[in-house]
This record gives sequence, C-alpha cells and structure tokens, in this order.
Amino acid sequence: MKILIVDDNADSRIILRKTLESDGYTVMTASDGAEALRLARDGPPDMIISDILMPGMDGYQLCRLWREDERLSSVPFVFYSASYTDRKDEEFGLGMGAVRFIVKPMDHDDFLRIIREILSDYKKGLLTPSPPVDKNDEDSFLKGYSARLITQLEKKVRDLEASNEALRRSEADLRELFESFVRTMVNTLDAKSRWTKGHSRRVAVYAEQIAREIGLGEREIAELRMAALLHDIGKIGLRDSLLDKTEGLTEDEFKTMKAHAALGADLLKDIKQLRNITPAIRYHHERSDGSGYPEGLKGKEIGLYADIIHVADSFDSMTADRPYRHSLGKAYAVSELKRLAGEHFNPDLVNAFLNALGRKPGIAGQERKDRRQKR
Ligand SMILES: [Fe+2]
Repeated sequence: MKILIVDDNADSRIILRKTLESDGYTVMTASDGAEALRLARDGPPDMIISDILMPGMDGYQLCRLWREDERLSSVPFVFYSASYTDRKDEEFGLGMGAVRFIVKPMDHDDFLRIIREILSDYKKGLLTPSPPVDKNDEDSFLKGYSARLITQLEKKVRDLEASNEALRRSEADLRELFESFVRTMVNTLDAKSRWTKGHSRRVAVYAEQIAREIGLGEREIAELRMAALLHDIGKIGLRDSLLDKTEGLTEDEFKTMKAHAALGADLLKDIKQLRNITPAIRYHHERSDGSGYPEGLKGKEIGLYADIIHVADSFDSMTADRPYRHSLGKAYAVSELKRLAGEHFNPDLVNAFLNALGRKPGIAGQERKDRRQKR
C-alpha cells in the first residue's frame, strides 16, 4: 500500500514517514500541494495524508483539485493538521470530500489504527466521500478560516511576548544576583584589611574614566568595571598580617604578595560570565617594558583592560595611605605616571587618564571622599 504525505514541515514529514513505514506502508512525500498533485498524477497512491497550512497551495485547495481529478477523486484524502482551531474546520474539510480529519499530535497506535481502517474501507469500496462543497460556501468558509487563523496567530504573538517578558525578568534577576556576588567578593576583600578597603571601588572609578576618555563602548566599560572591582581579589588568599605589615616586605613576602594576581584569576577562572576579564586580573601588574609580573608580558601582549587597570591601580596606590607610608599625593602620582609612561604604562592610557583627571573634578572628589571615609 502506498501513502502520499504532504506537509511543508520537514520534521513532520520524517515523523509521519517513519510511523507509516513501521507499519509496512510505502511512503511518498511532498512539501506542498502542487508537488503532491504532480507525484499523485504520475502514480496514484492508495491514500493521501495532507497538512492544511502550507505555502503556495494549501490543503483545502489541494483537496478540491484532488476531488476534481478523475484518477484521484476516489483515493481517500485525509487531513492531518495541528492548525485545527474550530469544529467548522473539520466540517469543512469533510465537506470538501476528505474522509477523515485528524488533529496532531495523535497517539502512534491510534493513528495507525485509523489509517488501517480507512484503507480497509477503501479497498472494500465502503468510502463515500461527500460531493465537493459549493464554491460560494467554500469562499465564505475560507474567509472565516483566515479570520480564525489570524486570531490564533495574534494569541500566539501575545503568548510569545509574555514569555519574552518573563525571560527578560529572569535575565535581570540573574544579572542582579551576579552583581551581588561580585559586591560580596569585593566586600570580603575590603573587610580583610583597612588598607585594602575602598581601593577596588576607586580603581573601578578611575578605570571607567580612562575607558570613557578613549571611547570604549558600554559593554566593554561594564566588563572593565567588573575587572577593576575584582583585580585584587587574589589578596583574599593572603595572610592579613602581610597586607597590614608596616615595614617593607622581605623578598619572600614580596614573592607571596605578587602571587595575588595569578591567584585571583585562578579563583575566578570557572565563572563563565567572567571569562573575558580574568586575563585583566592576571596581568594587572604587567608593565609595558616587560618588567612586571606574573609573566613579564610586554606592550600589546598585556591587553587593554589590564593596561587600564594598571594605570588606575598605580594612581590609587600612590595617592592612598599604605600601612608603611602616607599618601604620596596627587602631584607626585601624576609626575610618576608621566615619568613611567612607555616604560611601565601604556602612554596613551596615561594621557587619557591625565586628561580625565584635569577635566573631571569627580575623580579628585572621589579621592577626597574616600580619604575622608578612611579616617
Ligand atoms: Fe594588585
């Protein structure tokens, strides 16, 4: 027994073909009404199973032409469609001469049972499809059918908009959760020592000023801000006594201190959302001439985010009180940035920072505010 399937959806055609082949039928497939008619006229099948909504010629048009074709008119025509919206669709389909109207999805066994029944009745000559409907009735039905489809489509669009809104809300929740996580990490570092308190937030402010000065986009600025907030996170793994030490560090202690850059990057390496910024954390103490750590990278190898954080970090370190010295002052910090531009620092970024510093009282204001909070 040969069955012709017509459906514009390739997945549906495959599923239907496999289902029917599992019951021993020979299956032909077509992706629209015109192709189905061509195939059927070349060699009529024992049944056609047709979708309704298809581009070009839809199932109803195909059914009408099928019934008008002498060689095909007695071959059972079955509608199998998910676009069933109304009892009238079924009535109309049967009125056009279809022998059954099956609504997707249907249980595999039930579907095959119905197909077997139809073919058996067909072979026994028991199928008497009604004569095709009057053309006027057909036109008025098709108008109603289109209106129902539009209503259904509008509902689908509304449902889609509602689920998009829910998705947007859960994305915002996730972003907020992630930002709280970052804040908690920074607070943990702040709580470790009075000397680290506020440093990350000030570095983030400076880094953002540099980024805006060189024209980075909002996405990059957000990433850079996150990297700056977390740049010293590896210090969580250092002893408090090392962070608070008032005398100079011994060689071994300095070595331990230097490990914080790689340690911080390693701490965060499994967080997918931070993948773009972990290199900036690892390399924020690299220097343009290769004399930095942990890897002695040079120039462009260091990466823009790390370069920016290095400038911002150095400025804040010089202008903040340290356990072993008072602030060196803004004028000194500016002269050091200038002196070491090209050696330690990317000179373009130093220029950008100094421009921002000269123009934006917000930066100096931030310094004063933080200094007051510290006292
Ligand atoms: Fe650092």
